[in-house]
Amino acid sequence: MNVRQIAPNIYWVGVIDWDTRYFHGHSLSTHRGTTYNAYLILDEKVALVDTVYTPVADKLLENIRQIVDPAQIDYIICNHSEVDHSGAIPHVLAAAPKAQIYCTQKGAEFLEAQFHGGWDYHVVKTFDELSLGKRTLTFLEAPMLHWPDSMFTYIKEDAILMPNDAFGQHYASSGRFDDEVDVDEMMEEASKYYANILTPFSSLVAKKLKEVADLGLPIKMICPSHGVMFRQNPGLILEAYQRWSTAPAEGGVVIVYDTMWGSTKMMAEAIASGVDAAGVPYKIFHLPVSDRNDVIEEIMRAGAVAIGSATINRGVLPAIAPLLDELVGLRVAGKKALAFGSDGWGGGAVKVINEYLDKAGMQRISEGVAMRWRPDEAARKALQEIGRQLAESIE
Ligand SMILES: Cc1cc2nc3c(=O)[nH]c(=O)nc-3n(C[C@H](O)[C@H](O)[C@H](O)COP(=O)(O)O)c2cc1C
Ligand SMILES: [Fe+2]
Ligand SMILES: [Fe+2]
Repeated sequence: MNVRQIAPNIYWVGVIDWDTRYFHGHSLSTHRGTTYNAYLILDEKVALVDTVYTPVADKLLENIRQIVDPAQIDYIICNHSEVDHSGAIPHVLAAAPKAQIYCTQKGAEFLEAQFHGGWDYHVVKTFDELSLGKRTLTFLEAPMLHWPDSMFTYIKEDAILMPNDAFGQHYASSGRFDDEVDVDEMMEEASKYYANILTPFSSLVAKKLKEVADLGLPIKMICPSHGVMFRQNPGLILEAYQRWSTAPAEGGVVIVYDTMWGSTKMMAEAIASGVDAAGVPYKIFHLPVSDRNDVIEEIMRAGAVAIGSATINRGVLPAIAPLLDELVGLRVAGKKALAFGSDGWGGGAVKVINEYLDKAGMQRISEGVAMRWRPDEAARKALQEIGRQLAESIE
């Protein structure tokens, strides 16, 4: 693989993974693959900022060897101990026996608990510095962005921020920089990444952005641990994070449902027609044929969401359950919401959906709409009215 110089004596030595279609087990779809970014800094001391996922450790070492003998590495900076970035540490250490590991206190604990390496950990805190000779690394702890151990590394002299997972995208591409790729495609992946990984920590993201802004550090380049690096327009991703972390709703209604025999689909369409009549844009997703993570991203950007399921065995259809779970886990609070669904006798799905909407902290506009069997003309009219109310509930 080609290494890339990103500034004098600073190199991208990461690995592009064109193949991966799922991340975090099978919980996150990655339609466009991903990259594991690692950075090599040559100075009087040689530092490696982050490594890569274990199965591609050899590729990282190959890349490093194109520039320097790995035995020369003095410092491994571990911004985050998750294996997609730390998995190759044992391989690098085997080739770099004098290397010392720099990480947060939690980073040291987590690395030890995962690798049981008894390594030479150097614990750093916010504003601690590590001189490499001409260059200085400054560390900024970033707890819960997105693990308790996370930190950012800042190269003072070059004004380069290496924030690990923050600002990342699961996006394999031939271009390494924002000016070498399709910006819309890149931002689509950045948005999906934020929605599915960082949403629960939005208040911390907002706080961290303010903290970094208040420091007044110039930021010429942002080099995250996944996807492309921002050199042409780092402001683009900073502004997007600002927006996503403070006011995620951009309007519109997302209607997501599952059905066995089509009645709940009729309900979804009647609700949509009411939203449409209110002049508000909407999208409908039949969940089993949609990608759950893409739908979650749509929900994050929406002002209101309607979730529907036919009742099966007194509960929701199996495709709906993981979405409900995830909305609670991601704490999608504050959004207007409506449950709906068709049933045959006792019902149950709407009640289950309501419970999850409440747990997620969403603002239900009503007790929801449970309808027996197939909605007739009058029922569809009533649903249109409810759709209009949902659309108009968006502030
Ligand atoms: C396997 C199965 C289990 C069902 N379980 C329930 C149930 O526990 N309670 C209920 O009210 N209706 C139950 N129903 C009836 C459906 O909820 C009803 O047919 C509904 O109109 C289906 O909506 P759909 O056309 O959107 O699939 C069940 C239907 C099937 C096929
Ligand atoms: Fe991570
Ligand atoms: Fe990661």
